[in-house]
Amino acid sequence: MTGASPRASPSPVAGLAQTAGHGASGHPPWASPAPGEVLLEARNIGKRFGGVQALKDVSLTIRHGEIYGLIGPNGAGKTTLFNVFTGLYPRDGGMVLFCGAPLNMASPHMVSAAGIARTFQNIRLFGNMTARENVMVGRHVRTHAGVIKAMLRTPGERAEEAAIRRRADELLHYVGIADRADDLARHLSYGDQRRLEIARALATEPKLLALDEPAAGMNATETAALRGLIEGVRNDGLTVLLIEHDVKLVMGLCDRVAVLDYGEKIAEDVPDVVRADPKVIEAYLGAGTG
Ligand SMILES: Nc1ncnc2c1ncn2[C@@H]1O[C@H](COP(=O)(O)OP(=O)(O)OP(=O)(O)O)[C@@H](O)[C@H]1O
Ligand SMILES: [Mg+2]
Repeated sequence: MTGASPRASPSPVAGLAQTAGHGASGHPPWASPAPGEVLLEARNIGKRFGGVQALKDVSLTIRHGEIYGLIGPNGAGKTTLFNVFTGLYPRDGGMVLFCGAPLNMASPHMVSAAGIARTFQNIRLFGNMTARENVMVGRHVRTHAGVIKAMLRTPGERAEEAAIRRRADELLHYVGIADRADDLARHLSYGDQRRLEIARALATEPKLLALDEPAAGMNATETAALRGLIEGVRNDGLTVLLIEHDVKLVMGLCDRVAVLDYGEKIAEDVPDVVRADPKVIEAYLGAGTG
Protein backbone atom coordinates (compact mmCIF):
# COMPACT_ATOMS: atom_id res chain seq x y z
CA MET A 1 0.00 0.00 0.00
CA THR A 2 2.84 2.37 -0.71
CA GLY A 3 1.48 4.17 -3.72
CA ALA A 4 3.15 4.35 -7.09
CA SER A 5 6.78 4.14 -6.14
CA PRO A 6 9.36 2.81 -5.68
CA ARG A 7 8.98 0.11 -8.30
CA ALA A 8 11.44 -2.46 -9.51
CA SER A 9 9.87 -2.85 -12.94
CA PRO A 10 9.12 -0.05 -15.42
CA SER A 11 5.95 1.87 -14.65
CA PRO A 12 2.92 0.63 -16.57
CA VAL A 13 1.79 4.24 -16.80
CA ALA A 14 4.97 6.06 -17.87
CA GLY A 15 4.94 7.19 -21.47
CA LEU A 16 1.17 7.08 -21.96
CA ALA A 17 0.86 10.83 -22.27
CA GLN A 18 3.44 10.91 -25.03
CA THR A 19 1.43 8.55 -27.20
CA ALA A 20 0.51 10.28 -30.42
CA GLY A 21 -2.67 8.30 -30.94
CA HIS A 22 -4.47 5.11 -30.14
CA GLY A 23 -4.08 2.81 -33.09
CA ALA A 24 -5.88 -0.09 -31.48
CA SER A 25 -9.04 1.88 -30.87
CA GLY A 26 -9.28 3.13 -34.43
CA HIS A 27 -9.95 6.67 -33.24
CA PRO A 28 -8.21 9.73 -34.58
CA PRO A 29 -4.91 10.65 -32.99
CA TRP A 30 -4.97 13.12 -30.15
CA ALA A 31 -1.33 14.10 -29.94
CA SER A 32 -0.26 15.38 -26.55
CA PRO A 33 1.03 18.90 -26.30
CA ALA A 34 4.48 19.46 -24.80
CA PRO A 35 4.68 19.54 -21.00
CA GLY A 36 3.39 22.86 -19.73
CA GLU A 37 1.28 23.48 -22.85
CA VAL A 38 -2.51 23.49 -22.65
CA LEU A 39 -3.96 19.97 -22.59
CA LEU A 40 -7.60 20.77 -21.90
CA GLU A 41 -9.28 24.10 -22.43
CA ALA A 42 -12.85 24.78 -21.39
CA ARG A 43 -14.42 27.92 -22.80
CA ASN A 44 -17.58 29.48 -21.40
CA ILE A 45 -19.18 26.22 -20.29
CA GLY A 46 -22.81 26.47 -19.25
CA LYS A 47 -25.09 23.82 -17.83
CA ARG A 48 -28.59 24.17 -16.46
CA PHE A 49 -30.79 21.61 -14.73
CA GLY A 50 -34.31 22.99 -14.73
CA GLY A 51 -34.12 26.06 -12.54
CA VAL A 52 -30.57 25.36 -11.36
CA GLN A 53 -27.72 27.03 -13.23
CA ALA A 54 -25.11 24.38 -12.31
CA LEU A 55 -22.36 25.93 -14.46
CA LYS A 56 -22.22 29.49 -15.67
CA ASP A 57 -19.69 30.65 -18.22
CA VAL A 58 -16.87 28.52 -16.78
CA SER A 59 -13.52 28.80 -18.56
CA LEU A 60 -10.32 27.11 -17.47
CA THR A 61 -7.14 25.65 -18.87
CA ILE A 62 -5.34 22.56 -17.67
CA ARG A 63 -1.74 22.19 -18.74
CA HIS A 64 -0.03 18.97 -19.65
CA GLY A 65 1.79 17.55 -16.64
CA GLU A 66 0.13 19.51 -13.89
CA ILE A 67 -2.07 18.49 -10.99
CA TYR A 68 -5.03 20.81 -11.23
CA GLY A 69 -7.38 21.12 -8.29
CA LEU A 70 -11.08 21.92 -8.46
CA ILE A 71 -12.65 22.93 -5.16
CA GLY A 72 -15.76 24.65 -3.90
CA PRO A 73 -18.78 24.17 -1.64
CA ASN A 74 -21.29 21.35 -2.03
CA GLY A 75 -23.42 21.89 -5.10
CA ALA A 76 -20.92 24.34 -6.64
CA GLY A 77 -20.86 22.42 -9.94
CA LYS A 78 -17.59 20.47 -9.67
CA THR A 79 -18.99 17.06 -10.57
CA THR A 80 -21.18 18.61 -13.24
CA LEU A 81 -18.05 20.03 -14.88
CA PHE A 82 -16.49 16.53 -14.84
CA ASN A 83 -19.67 15.16 -16.36
CA VAL A 84 -19.53 17.72 -19.14
CA PHE A 85 -15.81 17.06 -19.80
CA THR A 86 -16.37 13.31 -19.96
CA GLY A 87 -19.43 13.43 -22.21
CA LEU A 88 -21.87 12.20 -19.58
CA TYR A 89 -23.94 15.38 -19.83
CA PRO A 90 -24.33 17.59 -22.87
CA ARG A 91 -23.36 21.17 -22.13
CA ASP A 92 -25.71 24.04 -22.92
CA GLY A 93 -23.01 26.32 -24.21
CA GLY A 94 -19.30 26.82 -24.66
CA MET A 95 -16.69 24.41 -25.90
CA VAL A 96 -14.09 21.96 -24.68
CA LEU A 97 -10.78 21.56 -26.49
CA PHE A 98 -8.61 18.55 -25.71
CA CYS A 99 -5.14 18.31 -27.23
CA GLY A 100 -6.21 21.26 -29.36
CA ALA A 101 -9.21 19.47 -30.90
CA PRO A 102 -12.83 20.16 -29.97
CA LEU A 103 -14.71 17.55 -27.97
CA ASN A 104 -18.01 18.23 -29.65
CA MET A 105 -20.83 16.66 -27.70
CA ALA A 106 -18.69 13.57 -27.54
CA SER A 107 -20.00 10.36 -25.98
CA PRO A 108 -18.24 8.97 -22.90
CA HIS A 109 -16.66 6.32 -25.12
CA MET A 110 -15.24 8.91 -27.50
CA VAL A 111 -13.93 10.98 -24.63
CA SER A 112 -12.26 7.90 -23.19
CA ALA A 113 -10.70 7.10 -26.55
CA ALA A 114 -9.45 10.69 -26.79
CA GLY A 115 -7.59 10.17 -23.52
CA ILE A 116 -9.71 11.38 -20.60
CA ALA A 117 -10.48 8.95 -17.78
CA ARG A 118 -12.32 9.63 -14.57
CA THR A 119 -13.35 8.14 -11.27
CA PHE A 120 -16.73 8.74 -9.68
CA GLN A 121 -17.71 10.53 -6.49
CA ASN A 122 -20.02 7.60 -5.79
CA ILE A 123 -17.83 4.61 -6.52
CA ARG A 124 -18.99 2.74 -9.62
CA LEU A 125 -17.40 -0.69 -9.62
CA PHE A 126 -18.80 -4.06 -10.61
CA GLY A 127 -19.15 -5.35 -7.05
CA ASN A 128 -19.53 -9.00 -8.00
CA MET A 129 -16.50 -9.00 -10.27
CA THR A 130 -12.96 -9.36 -8.96
CA ALA A 131 -10.63 -6.39 -8.72
CA ARG A 132 -8.69 -7.75 -11.70
CA GLU A 133 -11.84 -8.13 -13.80
CA ASN A 134 -12.88 -4.57 -13.02
CA VAL A 135 -9.56 -3.30 -14.40
CA MET A 136 -9.83 -5.60 -17.43
CA VAL A 137 -13.18 -4.01 -18.29
CA GLY A 138 -11.49 -0.60 -18.38
CA ARG A 139 -8.77 -1.99 -20.61
CA HIS A 140 -11.20 -3.15 -23.28
CA VAL A 141 -11.65 0.46 -24.42
CA ARG A 142 -8.17 0.17 -25.89
CA THR A 143 -8.44 -3.18 -27.62
CA HIS A 144 -9.98 -4.68 -30.73
CA ALA A 145 -11.82 -7.43 -28.98
CA GLY A 146 -14.51 -5.68 -26.96
CA VAL A 147 -16.11 -7.35 -24.00
CA ILE A 148 -18.54 -9.62 -25.85
CA LYS A 149 -16.02 -10.98 -28.34
CA ALA A 150 -13.51 -11.48 -25.55
CA MET A 151 -16.04 -13.56 -23.68
CA LEU A 152 -16.58 -15.75 -26.76
CA ARG A 153 -12.81 -16.26 -26.81
CA THR A 154 -11.93 -16.74 -30.44
CA PRO A 155 -8.29 -17.87 -30.80
CA GLY A 156 -6.95 -14.51 -31.90
CA GLU A 157 -8.49 -12.85 -28.91
CA ARG A 158 -7.18 -15.26 -26.32
CA ALA A 159 -3.66 -13.85 -26.59
CA GLU A 160 -5.05 -10.33 -26.33
CA GLU A 161 -7.05 -11.38 -23.27
CA ALA A 162 -3.88 -12.71 -21.61
CA ALA A 163 -2.14 -9.41 -22.31
CA ILE A 164 -5.10 -7.49 -20.85
CA ARG A 165 -4.91 -9.65 -17.76
CA ARG A 166 -1.18 -9.01 -17.35
CA ARG A 167 -1.74 -5.32 -17.82
CA ALA A 168 -4.54 -5.34 -15.22
CA ASP A 169 -2.20 -7.00 -12.72
CA GLU A 170 0.48 -4.39 -13.41
CA LEU A 171 -2.01 -1.62 -12.75
CA LEU A 172 -3.27 -3.24 -9.54
CA HIS A 173 0.36 -3.36 -8.43
CA TYR A 174 0.81 0.26 -9.49
CA VAL A 175 -2.06 1.50 -7.31
CA GLY A 176 -0.93 -0.70 -4.42
CA ILE A 177 -3.60 -3.41 -4.29
CA ALA A 178 -1.95 -6.30 -6.15
CA ASP A 179 -2.76 -8.58 -3.23
CA ARG A 180 -6.50 -8.02 -3.77
CA ALA A 181 -6.59 -9.00 -7.46
CA ASP A 182 -8.80 -12.07 -6.93
CA ASP A 183 -11.14 -10.51 -4.37
CA LEU A 184 -14.60 -9.31 -5.31
CA ALA A 185 -14.66 -5.53 -5.58
CA ARG A 186 -17.41 -5.29 -2.97
CA HIS A 187 -15.18 -7.01 -0.43
CA LEU A 188 -12.49 -4.34 -0.70
CA SER A 189 -12.21 -1.55 1.85
CA TYR A 190 -13.50 1.84 0.81
CA GLY A 191 -9.97 3.14 0.27
CA ASP A 192 -9.01 0.13 -1.82
CA GLN A 193 -12.17 0.49 -3.92
CA ARG A 194 -11.15 4.05 -4.70
CA ARG A 195 -7.68 2.80 -5.71
CA LEU A 196 -9.31 0.15 -7.86
CA GLU A 197 -11.33 2.83 -9.64
CA ILE A 198 -8.06 4.64 -10.36
CA ALA A 199 -6.52 1.44 -11.75
CA ARG A 200 -9.55 0.94 -13.98
CA ALA A 201 -9.33 4.54 -15.19
CA LEU A 202 -5.60 4.12 -15.92
CA ALA A 203 -6.38 0.99 -17.92
CA THR A 204 -7.93 3.19 -20.61
CA GLU A 205 -4.48 4.78 -21.12
CA PRO A 206 -5.56 8.34 -20.40
CA LYS A 207 -3.59 11.51 -20.84
CA LEU A 208 -5.85 13.23 -18.30
CA LEU A 209 -6.93 11.43 -15.14
CA ALA A 210 -9.90 13.14 -13.48
CA LEU A 211 -10.54 12.14 -9.87
CA ASP A 212 -13.82 13.09 -8.16
CA GLU A 213 -13.20 13.16 -4.41
CA PRO A 214 -10.74 10.25 -4.31
CA ALA A 215 -9.96 10.78 -0.61
CA ALA A 216 -13.59 10.72 0.51
CA GLY A 217 -13.99 8.13 3.25
CA MET A 218 -10.26 7.48 3.52
CA ASN A 219 -8.37 7.54 6.81
CA ALA A 220 -5.14 9.53 7.23
CA THR A 221 -2.90 6.62 6.22
CA GLU A 222 -4.94 5.88 3.11
CA THR A 223 -4.98 9.56 2.18
CA ALA A 224 -1.18 9.77 2.51
CA ALA A 225 -0.83 6.71 0.24
CA LEU A 226 -3.29 8.27 -2.23
CA ARG A 227 -1.19 11.40 -2.31
CA GLY A 228 1.87 9.32 -3.19
CA LEU A 229 -0.09 7.58 -5.90
CA ILE A 230 -1.31 10.83 -7.48
CA GLU A 231 2.22 12.25 -7.40
CA GLY A 232 3.48 9.06 -9.02
CA VAL A 233 0.88 9.33 -11.78
CA ARG A 234 1.97 12.87 -12.51
CA ASN A 235 5.67 11.96 -12.37
CA ASP A 236 4.90 9.32 -14.97
CA GLY A 237 3.78 12.10 -17.30
CA LEU A 238 0.01 12.16 -16.90
CA THR A 239 -2.05 15.21 -16.09
CA VAL A 240 -4.38 15.05 -13.09
CA LEU A 241 -7.63 16.93 -12.46
CA LEU A 242 -8.59 16.59 -8.82
CA ILE A 243 -11.89 17.42 -7.12
CA GLU A 244 -11.41 17.17 -3.38
CA HIS A 245 -12.83 18.58 -0.15
CA ASP A 246 -9.63 17.70 1.74
CA VAL A 247 -8.18 21.21 1.47
CA LYS A 248 -4.84 20.19 2.95
CA LEU A 249 -4.45 17.50 0.31
CA VAL A 250 -5.44 19.86 -2.51
CA MET A 251 -3.21 22.71 -1.41
CA GLY A 252 -0.26 20.40 -0.81
CA LEU A 253 -0.60 18.49 -4.05
CA CYS A 254 -1.90 20.80 -6.76
CA ASP A 255 0.10 23.10 -8.99
CA ARG A 256 -2.97 25.26 -9.61
CA VAL A 257 -6.42 25.35 -8.11
CA ALA A 258 -9.73 26.63 -9.45
CA VAL A 259 -12.63 27.46 -7.16
CA LEU A 260 -16.27 27.11 -8.19
CA ASP A 261 -19.10 28.75 -6.29
CA TYR A 262 -22.73 28.56 -7.44
CA GLY A 263 -21.55 27.37 -10.84
CA GLU A 264 -19.10 30.20 -11.40
CA LYS A 265 -15.32 30.15 -11.29
CA ILE A 266 -14.35 32.67 -8.62
CA ALA A 267 -10.60 31.97 -8.54
CA GLU A 268 -7.87 30.11 -10.40
CA ASP A 269 -4.24 30.33 -9.34
CA VAL A 270 -1.42 28.65 -7.43
CA PRO A 271 -2.51 27.31 -4.01
CA ASP A 272 -0.94 30.12 -1.94
CA VAL A 273 -2.81 32.79 -3.89
CA VAL A 274 -6.12 30.91 -3.86
CA ARG A 275 -5.82 30.24 -0.14
CA ALA A 276 -5.43 33.97 0.59
CA ASP A 277 -8.20 35.14 -1.77
CA PRO A 278 -10.96 36.83 0.25
CA LYS A 279 -13.66 35.60 -2.18
CA VAL A 280 -12.49 32.01 -1.68
CA ILE A 281 -12.27 32.37 2.07
CA GLU A 282 -15.80 33.72 2.19
CA ALA A 283 -17.30 31.16 -0.17
CA TYR A 284 -15.50 28.05 0.94
CA LEU A 285 -12.42 28.05 3.11
CA GLY A 286 -13.62 30.14 6.01
CA ALA A 287 -11.34 32.20 8.19
CA GLY A 288 -8.21 30.54 9.54
CA THR A 289 -8.25 27.61 7.08
CA GLY A 290 -5.21 26.30 5.27
N1 LIG B 1 -28.45 15.22 -12.88
C1 LIG B 1 -28.85 16.32 -12.24
N2 LIG B 1 -30.14 16.73 -12.27
C2 LIG B 1 -30.53 17.84 -11.65
N3 LIG B 1 -29.72 18.64 -10.95
C3 LIG B 1 -28.42 18.30 -10.87
C4 LIG B 1 -27.92 17.12 -11.51
N4 LIG B 1 -26.59 17.04 -11.26
C5 LIG B 1 -26.29 18.09 -10.50
N5 LIG B 1 -27.37 18.85 -10.27
C6 LIG B 1 -27.41 20.12 -9.51
O1 LIG B 1 -26.37 20.93 -10.02
C7 LIG B 1 -25.71 21.63 -8.94
C8 LIG B 1 -24.24 21.25 -8.96
O2 LIG B 1 -24.10 19.91 -8.54
P1 LIG B 1 -22.72 19.14 -8.53
O3 LIG B 1 -23.01 17.73 -8.20
O4 LIG B 1 -22.00 19.42 -9.78
O5 LIG B 1 -21.96 19.85 -7.32
P2 LIG B 1 -20.56 19.51 -6.65
O6 LIG B 1 -19.76 20.75 -6.68
O7 LIG B 1 -19.97 18.30 -7.27
O8 LIG B 1 -21.00 19.23 -5.13
P3 LIG B 1 -20.43 18.17 -4.06
O9 LIG B 1 -19.21 18.79 -3.45
O10 LIG B 1 -21.54 18.07 -3.05
O11 LIG B 1 -20.18 16.88 -4.77
C9 LIG B 1 -26.45 21.24 -7.68
O12 LIG B 1 -27.42 22.21 -7.41
C10 LIG B 1 -27.08 19.90 -8.04
O13 LIG B 1 -28.24 19.69 -7.28
MG1 LIG C 1 -19.53 16.44 -6.60
